[in-house]
Amino acid sequence: MRLIAANWKMHKTVSETQDYIKRFLKFVEHPESREILLCPPFTSLYVAGQLLEGSGVKLGAQNCHYEKQGAFTGEVSIPMLKELGCEYVIVGHSERRHIFGESDELINKKVVACLEEGIRPILCVGEKLEDREAGMTFKVVEAQVRLALSGVEEHTDSIDIAYEPVWAIGTGVPATPEDAVAVHRFIKEVLKDINPKARGKTRILYGGSVKPHNAPEFMKHSEIEGLLVGGASLDPEAFAQIVYSF
Ligand code: PGA
Repeated sequence: MRLIAANWKMHKTVSETQDYIKRFLKFVEHPESREILLCPPFTSLYVAGQLLEGSGVKLGAQNCHYEKQGAFTGEVSIPMLKELGCEYVIVGHSERRHIFGESDELINKKVVACLEEGIRPILCVGEKLEDREAGMTFKVVEAQVRLALSGVEEHTDSIDIAYEPVWAIGTGVPATPEDAVAVHRFIKEVLKDINPKARGKTRILYGGSVKPHNAPEFMKHSEIEGLLVGGASLDPEAFAQIVYSF
């Protein structure tokens, strides 16, 4: 089933979250026909979990720490997220990589921890503009995928991957659906090589300037098995349009 995920980033207080979810749920019909996921900030997860209960809309976090507990000031562990009802965690988002300096090694530790704890990671990969211009897109994406999955190669069915070209995030300039499809196919090949026994359960999502008007163009390609939506997910009506764009 295709997965349409909202990444709110550092937006919405608790009361704004309550208001959003009440409005959004009015647009939700047949939630069983697609997977719908909201990833609010940590502070909104509790109230979001309560409001989403029984709606068929799932809850995820935007980040996690790889240890279960300990002296890690300011961090949030996977057991804490699971107790709030989170079924997914976004791992290695480009803002985590490039603003907060997360390395492939750290991202790998988080992926391993997610699999151990039984929460489904959405691993984000994507090239910078200079990589694309240097013809390095496939090399960069392959390295990110291989490093993130190091040691958990047999478990690729338990993760999803979001292809998010860095230059397309928050810029209003999405990849063309054809360019996205080429990278999605490539990631599938890399996954086959990493885990020949995989049952093909890893969905490859596209993210980067997805809006209601361009979502149908992406979703008409079967290789695009979902979307990770930032800015346009902040408005419940716009996000619902994207959710029902196919
Ligand atoms: P955007 O963000 O939709 O605002 O480009 C996507 C993302 O960062 O996941």
